[in-house]
Amino acid sequence: MYGGLMDDRIPIAGPSISKREIDYATDAASHGWYARAGEYPRRFEEAFAKYIGVKHAVSLPSCTSGLHLALAAAGIGPGDEVIVPDLTWIASAAPVAYVGATPVFADVDEHTWCLSAESVRTCLTEKTKAILSVDLYGGVPDYDQLQKLANEHGVLIIEDAAEAIGSEYNGCRAGTLGDVAAFSFHGSKTITTGEGGMLVTDDDVLHTRVLHLRDHGREPGDVQFQNTEVAFKYKMPPVAAAIGLGQVERADELVAKKREVFAWYQEAFEGIAGLTLNHEPAKTKNTYWMVTAVLDPILNWPKEKLMAALDQEGIDSRPMFHPLSSLPAYVGQSQAAAARKRNAVSYRLSPWGINLPSALCLEQTQVVRVAQAVRRILGKA
Ligand SMILES: Cc1ncc(COP(=O)(O)O)c(C=O)c1O
Repeated sequence: MYGGLMDDRIPIAGPSISKREIDYATDAASHGWYARAGEYPRRFEEAFAKYIGVKHAVSLPSCTSGLHLALAAAGIGPGDEVIVPDLTWIASAAPVAYVGATPVFADVDEHTWCLSAESVRTCLTEKTKAILSVDLYGGVPDYDQLQKLANEHGVLIIEDAAEAIGSEYNGCRAGTLGDVAAFSFHGSKTITTGEGGMLVTDDDVLHTRVLHLRDHGREPGDVQFQNTEVAFKYKMPPVAAAIGLGQVERADELVAKKREVFAWYQEAFEGIAGLTLNHEPAKTKNTYWMVTAVLDPILNWPKEKLMAALDQEGIDSRPMFHPLSSLPAYVGQSQAAAARKRNAVSYRLSPWGINLPSALCLEQTQVVRVAQAVRRILGKA
């Protein structure tokens, strides 16, 4: 394996790169030009679509660009509202602003930490055009409930599956749980291309529109440089796609490793009171992109303090996402002010949650070291 650790510090996230990815990337760098320039992006898209179980996959420079394209292709724009969970990375909501629409921050479910259908119901208005659901940390929301609401109100579900390759709901893979979805291949993700993303959909019309919008508003295959509108340029380079192809061919192995890491944590934390790890409801498969611990406030270890203590032990961690409506980026926006009052669960969870090391290179001894450090810090050794 390549991309191993330089010292005994335990990293928060990182990939598993095998000879397969190195060979494909070398081939792409050596020969992925001229007539073969499109070969690796096409192979990666085909393999990815097959793995997810969708008709269309479009390789992109990021998941953010995928969400942007999904919103733009759906014709969402100024005056429209898109419901997003309050507890997520800002990349879920920022593209809503790129198209001139307004994000409405709904609360999350206290067990899945994903969008709460109950909260979504209270946020729907006649201006709502889409529900942008997030498969947080590899878990999934209750898509039956979300789909019911979406059908009742005639709105789209855009699935932010950035963190959820291989996750499942009722036997269907993440990426197929809404009308259109986007994945991330950032270096921290389960499948990586360094930076990169993929939009997937079964919708032929949406797919055609995405291909047009992502190439400066021209038809796929256009050789006359005829732009029919001003649009975007979002493509994945062949060397990145070559790495992605190697990664998706190993998806089952990588997802299994993520689940194994989570199982090691479960075992290592057994019997500890006041610490809750990621949830996996019946009929779902969580792929635990980030193993996350939420502490009981009674323990009095706010996330920043716990992160600093782990840092002293040579262990990297991250804060659970802050509610978007609490961020300086949204200060002064009326939707954020309403969300701060409404989203009790997001505000209750976030101060006490941290992401624990979840890299694909981890060994069980390192997970045990993390758990022992947490126990020691909490005074429960
Ligand atoms: C939930 C979520 N959405 C979107 C993104 C954006 O992905 P990218 O960095 O590939 O644009 C991320 C990446 O961290 C994410 O975690």
